[in-house]
Amino acid sequence: MSEPKRYTVTAALPYANGPVHIGHLAGCYLPADIYVRYLRQKGKDVKFICGSDEHGVAVIMKAKAEGVSPQEIVDKYNGIMSEAFNEFGISFDIYSRTSKKIHHDTASDFFLKLYNKGCFTEKETEQYYDQEADQFLADRYIMGECPNCHFPDAYGDQCENCGTSLSADELINPRSALSGAKPIKKKTTHWFLPLDHLSDKIKDYIQSRKGWKPSVYGQCMSWLDDGAGLQARSMTRDLDWGISVPIEGADGKVLYVWFDAPIGYISASKELLGNEWEKYWKDEDTSLVHFIGKDNIVFHCIIFPAMLMEHGEFILPEHVPANEFLNLEGKKISTSRNWAVWLHEYLQDFPNNQDALRYVLCATAPETKDNDFTWKDFQTRNNSELVAIYGNFVNRVLVLMQKYYKGIIPKASNLTDTDKELLNSLKEASNSIGESLEKYKFRDALSKYMGLARMGNKYLADEEPWKKFKVDPERTETILYVATQVCAMLSQLGEPFMPFTSEKLRSFLKMDLMPWDATSKGELIAAGTEIEKGSLLFGIVEDEVVEKQLEKLKPQEKVEEKVFANPLKEEIGFEDFMKMDIRTGTILAAEPVKKTDKLLKLTVDIGLEKRTIVSGIAEQFKPEDLIGKQVSVLANLAPKKLRGVESKGMILMAEDADGKLTFAAPVDNVGDGSVVR
Ligand code: 2FM
Ligand code: ZN
Repeated sequence: MSEPKRYTVTAALPYANGPVHIGHLAGCYLPADIYVRYLRQKGKDVKFICGSDEHGVAVIMKAKAEGVSPQEIVDKYNGIMSEAFNEFGISFDIYSRTSKKIHHDTASDFFLKLYNKGCFTEKETEQYYDQEADQFLADRYIMGECPNCHFPDAYGDQCENCGTSLSADELINPRSALSGAKPIKKKTTHWFLPLDHLSDKIKDYIQSRKGWKPSVYGQCMSWLDDGAGLQARSMTRDLDWGISVPIEGADGKVLYVWFDAPIGYISASKELLGNEWEKYWKDEDTSLVHFIGKDNIVFHCIIFPAMLMEHGEFILPEHVPANEFLNLEGKKISTSRNWAVWLHEYLQDFPNNQDALRYVLCATAPETKDNDFTWKDFQTRNNSELVAIYGNFVNRVLVLMQKYYKGIIPKASNLTDTDKELLNSLKEASNSIGESLEKYKFRDALSKYMGLARMGNKYLADEEPWKKFKVDPERTETILYVATQVCAMLSQLGEPFMPFTSEKLRSFLKMDLMPWDATSKGELIAAGTEIEKGSLLFGIVEDEVVEKQLEKLKPQEKVEEKVFANPLKEEIGFEDFMKMDIRTGTILAAEPVKKTDKLLKLTVDIGLEKRTIVSGIAEQFKPEDLIGKQVSVLANLAPKKLRGVESKGMILMAEDADGKLTFAAPVDNVGDGSVVR
């Protein structure tokens, strides 16, 4: 495409089912933000679109796990996520929600348009069904072994371990994520979007695009060249949470979340732009760019473009700069295993230090391969790059400027070759950094940017103005003039990467943000201008701080070790499970069993009767603290004599990695004798 007239930049709509972690930030929100801030500074017409993806099984499952409604879940996490993005300076023009009416209307209209054009085929198929839960098992409701990497907990739509997108039928040993039961197949009707006839068109489209990452292009081609052809995709689901299928005879069915979510980009644009929205989605001179993680490639490069093609009125994505995955301390980030650095927690531990994380995540971004975030590396990059090079350089310039010239920038005279070389590098910086940014090479761009700080730091160290001030005042003036220009350039070109620092530095230099290209003129701040003394831009990250962060991850590691040491037992049938009679009961009395340290003799009311149960918990619980406590009891365990006391049943406990015991009991009080299953 020749120079686009405007840009529509989107970042994947995150599921509103959990807070945001560093993997999300590095994967798509940070690069998207850097790109957009750059385009804005270039004076381009750009809209940055995002919002919460509030439908789909991922949300329903979280609601079940937290025992609340899906609406409560999305309200909660939409708030947490939008706040975290805001705090990290992710400068969306709009952060919307797919639960809004405008989105329901837009997605329904889109579906109807395709339906009326005859783009869907209505098919009765057999789908997995959980007889116990009495419902169909869409997408993440079904789990099993990944056919690709053999991860045991892959979902019916995707394996989170290897990123492959799957269909439920491909899972090995499928099981219901709701009850664990083995599902049966049951007939149901759905609307499928055939893709095979679009295969060549999609291929031509992708091949017409320039500069896609090899990994993205490669993944698309392997889908398109798969001998079996592109399979039709069901665009509806049997669920009670989502956008109702807007046609007759589709009661109890909703739009597939991956049908409605990308349309969310369009609805959010409508919400933001009113009547102006169409230009950003329909004019050929608009560049549509989707920032995503690699697990979303097929949806953005094949399925969404297919939907747009079938609709007929829309432009197609120009670029889909998908990133790979970021790991944490050598292991895959996992929300469910709490193996993550959460943005809201980072903010508590490193207040006002968002740029250090933005810097490190950009410097180590998983642009071409999976990458690892480690706290040690975070510390090193912060201390020996941000503090020792960038911060140190700026601080020395500001201090010397105050000391020698009361903050008034001196004139330059007789520029040496070194001065000229440095000033030349400044002139070239915006172009060179811009080139990398336009190719989505954010790491390269950042490294070129830091190159300026390195040059400035070396210049000061070599020129040693502090030694020349007395003997050669004219030379000292020139050195500080040149060094101040470097600071000014850092403050201007740092805006996309580290906006907080950039703004702070500009305030020290009393500068406004300049257009990107205007910085290539070299002199950014004129002699005679008065600047402030400023303060430190970055703080050292001490060893203790790193240790504390690693410490935070440790309990998680222990749980993992423990899980590893206690692998899942052999599979049992439902009938085996049903043999166990687990009841709630209340402890009425507790006393130590004589001549033992470990055993307590408990009297437990299990509704039907009172039982004596001997339990090995004396080292961790005092008898008097147990009276009145409600517990779960395995009531039909064969009686056993322990130290002369007959025990009838067993109290259920959870034991953590350190051996700490907690009662596995109902969260709220229920009647004694209630059946647990
Ligand atoms: O993977 C995810 O988190 C999805 N919620 C991304 C959706 S992107 C878009 F299509 F909205
Ligand atoms: Zn896998």
